[in-house]
Amino acid sequence: MNSSFERSENTKVEWLTPPDLVKKLGVFDLDPCSPVNAPFLHALHNFTVEDDGLLKEWFGRVYLNPPYGKGMDLWLQKLKLHGNGIALIFARTETKCFFDNVWNDADGVLFVKGRIRFYHVSGEQGGTPGAPSVFIAYGKENALALKDAGIEGRFLMLKS
Ligand SMILES: C[S@@+](CC[C@H](N)C(=O)[O-])C[C@H]1O[C@@H](n2cnc3c(N)ncnc32)[C@H](O)[C@@H]1O
Repeated sequence: MNSSFERSENTKVEWLTPPDLVKKLGVFDLDPCSPVNAPFLHALHNFTVEDDGLLKEWFGRVYLNPPYGKGMDLWLQKLKLHGNGIALIFARTETKCFFDNVWNDADGVLFVKGRIRFYHVSGEQGGTPGAPSVFIAYGKENALALKDAGIEGRFLMLKS
């Protein structure tokens, strides 16, 4: 039976990454799309919807788990152009977004084993989402961080 978490897949944007997973990837300078009332933070600097992180200039090593749904490709495209960071999105490998921003552009990907149980802004962990997730690394160092993170899944280096 589906959880309310899963039923709201198409409308919910506040799907927070489990903090323990991000810690395994090292220290990030910027999360450009952090919740307004975040129960935890993933980066040293954080933009919220009140700043409009998509329009801001990004700096340093970026951790990106973008708002899901329409417009998500703009966030991924911005990270691709920035060239330094790791994104987490659903593993919809057949989509235009994936072909435009990942297969030919990322340095490495990690397909996560099982399903990530994201957090609500309340700080509670949600149920199982309706799709698997993939981490996407831009920049060689980020690909190596992903490879060595110890997160269960299958890592692929996309660039030599
Ligand atoms: C999928 S959640 C991820 C949150 C956080 N990055 C994480 O991984 O735990 C996407 C977040 O983007 C925020 N958001 C939506 N539009 C935004 C915007 N224009 N600028 C900055 N943040 C935005 C939402 O409030 C939400 O917290």
